[in-house]
Amino acid sequence: MSTWWSGKRVTVTGGRGFLGSSLVQMIEEAGGRVATFSSSEYNLTQQADVARMYHDQRPEIVIHLAARVGGIGANQDNPGSFFYENAIMGIEVMEQARQTGVSKFVQIGTVCAYPKFARIPFSEDELWNGYPEETNAPYGLAKKMLLVQAQAYRQQYGFNAIYLLPVNLYGPGDSIDLRNSHVIPALIRKCLEAKRAGAPTVDVWGTGSATREFLYVDDAARGIVLAAERYDKPDPVNLGSSEEISIRDLVTLIAQLTGFKGEIVFDATKPDGQPRRKLNVERAMREFGFTSETPFQIGLKNTIDWFSRKTAVPSVA
Ligand SMILES: NC(=O)c1ccc[n+]([C@@H]2O[C@H](COP(=O)([O-])OP(=O)(O)OC[C@H]3O[C@@H](n4cnc5c(N)ncnc54)[C@H](OP(=O)(O)O)[C@@H]3O)[C@@H](O)[C@H]2O)c1
Repeated sequence: MSTWWSGKRVTVTGGRGFLGSSLVQMIEEAGGRVATFSSSEYNLTQQADVARMYHDQRPEIVIHLAARVGGIGANQDNPGSFFYENAIMGIEVMEQARQTGVSKFVQIGTVCAYPKFARIPFSEDELWNGYPEETNAPYGLAKKMLLVQAQAYRQQYGFNAIYLLPVNLYGPGDSIDLRNSHVIPALIRKCLEAKRAGAPTVDVWGTGSATREFLYVDDAARGIVLAAERYDKPDPVNLGSSEEISIRDLVTLIAQLTGFKGEIVFDATKPDGQPRRKLNVERAMREFGFTSETPFQIGLKNTIDWFSRKTAVPSVA
């Protein structure tokens, strides 16, 4: 591991969340001195709290992960607050990083910023070629404005901000609350609960035909670490695995791995979200040597095992 992080003061906003926990551990293992906090200690939607955070922590490096996130349902229920909170947090956290002389700023974007019908595989150059899928557009666009901010600050102030676009993440530590969970934990939960209750069916949102790509949380954290160390350019960079899977195949796999043997019923009255997702991941490889390493089945198995332990449902398969 490189010595780049040794002794550096690093603030990871959202550092106690799903991705943040893995990232913070990795940076600490590399010798970084990391500060994390909850939103009740510093509410980053409040300008005064952002100022207090910079005053107290005096970071040299900031990795801005804090965000209000969720699956399709949470995005549909909260388009206004998802837009406002993600935009205002990012704008203030980056602006005050510039004012306080932060030497490297890493902004985490999202695959939800891509146009609904971007060409497959999504290349970073396609980002502005259309409007995002409607259910996640307010979230995706709020975060996309932070790419504009990063590029404008580099141009005007020479501020070293980079912008990464992770695809859908999965792994141990994800939210298991059905109100705001993403597709993989939601499906694991449904299959395990149905199996435990002896239920004959599991209901799944949408037609099953949409496709998604997933990146294991520890791989995403490693990609962020590598980018922070090695990448200093304005162009956004995808972080993904470039492996596309339909929701139908995903549910079948999760049913197999959890041991659910009943019927899977697709509810086509519910939205599919974006029709297809698959990233071009060449830029991350070329610019900072990142590739995904965790095979999907292994990552899923780890996630199911973690989930089973956490919910005290007996592990299987
Ligand atoms: N998960 C994915 O599939 C995925 C995919 C692509 C990109 N991303 C991006 O990756 C980042 C991390 O996502 P995640 O899945 O790890 O989310 P998460 O587990 O929900 O963590 C979000 C973190 O943000 C903090 N936060 C939210 N509002 C805040 C506020 N007002 N002030 C201070 N902190 C606040 C939360 O702190 P509290 O809990 O204390 O409120 C929490 O630690 C986000 O930027 C997200 O957009 C995630």
